[in-house]
Amino acid sequence: MSHPPLDAVLAYVDRERARFVDDLAAWCRIPSISSSPEHVGEVRRSAEHLVERCRELGADDARLLETPGHPAAFAEWRVDPRLPTALVYGHHDVQPIDPPEQWLSPPFEPTVRDGRLYGRGVVDDKGQVYIHTKAIEAFVKAGAGKPPVNVKLIVEGEEEVGSANLDGILHEHDELLRADYVVVSDTAMFGRGIPSLCVGLRGIAYWDVKIAALALDGHSGSYGGAVPNPATALASMIAKLHDERGHVTVPGFYDRVRALPEDERRAIAALPFDEPAFLASVGAARVVGEHGYSTLERLWTRPTLEVNGLSSGWQGPGSKTIVPATASAKLSARLVPDQDPEEISRLFETHLKRIAPPGVKVEVTFLHGGRPYLAPTELPVYDLAKRAFSRAFGKPTVFIREGGSIPFVRTIADRTGKPCLLMGFGQPDENAHAPNEWLDLENFHLGIKSVIYLYDELRALSGR
Ligand code: BES
Ligand code: ZN
Repeated sequence: MSHPPLDAVLAYVDRERARFVDDLAAWCRIPSISSSPEHVGEVRRSAEHLVERCRELGADDARLLETPGHPAAFAEWRVDPRLPTALVYGHHDVQPIDPPEQWLSPPFEPTVRDGRLYGRGVVDDKGQVYIHTKAIEAFVKAGAGKPPVNVKLIVEGEEEVGSANLDGILHEHDELLRADYVVVSDTAMFGRGIPSLCVGLRGIAYWDVKIAALALDGHSGSYGGAVPNPATALASMIAKLHDERGHVTVPGFYDRVRALPEDERRAIAALPFDEPAFLASVGAARVVGEHGYSTLERLWTRPTLEVNGLSSGWQGPGSKTIVPATASAKLSARLVPDQDPEEISRLFETHLKRIAPPGVKVEVTFLHGGRPYLAPTELPVYDLAKRAFSRAFGKPTVFIREGGSIPFVRTIADRTGKPCLLMGFGQPDENAHAPNEWLDLENFHLGIKSVIYLYDELRALSGR
């Protein structure tokens, strides 16, 4: 039940709706591309920008958490030690903008068109982090001067590049990150206007693969057909990684994969999945994949092995007749419970070396890994989160899983044993990681209200 203070908080959100978007746009102007060495300073500036905003909102503590890589931002509102503490996680780093020519408005000049904010990072994940800081602002400015529960905010700067320093942060700041609930907003809703609580994420293992056969490029007239060709070798190895039924052929790959329970299978089948719209969102002609599973089952509950990049030899204009000396590829596997990235990595490397044609050298570098997550949905807090989401959006909330990965989620869940609420406000066709990334401004607005209801209900659950 809402009561007068909450009404005032919600009214503030209505009143400040447009200015909240301007504030978000200001943060999104900072090109915090974590993979780019030229943007090191910008990633830091992005973290500092957030810390500064949290200070303005009366955080009791707000600072950078330094790492050997990019800094994270941390802020804390200590309200009352008897109240529960929510640890909110997000990331302030963004993906590169490539290909730049496909953007309809400049990626770092956020632009509103048709109820959407376009720009890099607007939904993945700065807009979703701001949903929380704006909810806090509303409580601070229009409510009791502080949020209704204790809130800790940790906003990482390396999520998009594999969170290599995350374990270090968690280890070093163990005390700082203690909480009763973890809340993460970095996923998408199932469809327009459908509040969706994400209860499963896939894990990941990512590799750089290098094939070497010659000391230098050779003239293809003088050497072609007589010495190993690393491009052909790599192509043939990649082609052998799946069988004709779409299964991954790496021995042992499926050994730890949990079967999908029948009731979850039915729940997934009952969701209103729009396959043509899914295909259209990326311009694909048809679905493909592992036989015996529906598209959503493949995306959410089955592991994959994908080529992320492939290169060898001459790629410039015109032709150049050579046998290239080397070939390389980026590959990654999406993992499901109970697969383990390190174990999968060992199996993958062994297999790749076994199927390499004679005369080529294979080098596999494991770049990063993250484990899959399944939420303990039997806990009452999941019903509470559904209710908060539904109160804002005026529709029943569905449980979904996602095929993407957020390594922090499993790591913090294992470390603390606390439930993680994946309350995402994106849309499936939001162009994350692609040109023309966008945030639905209605979701931004109602997302802020969802979080207000969530914090309020978490306090009610504690009986204070
Ligand atoms: N927001 C995504 C996670 C995500 C992706 C959730 C798709 C739901 C659907 C996050 O920013 C991301 O891109 N994560 C990376 C993690 C990786 C680099 C370890 C991913 O999934 O590729
Ligand atoms: Zn991302």
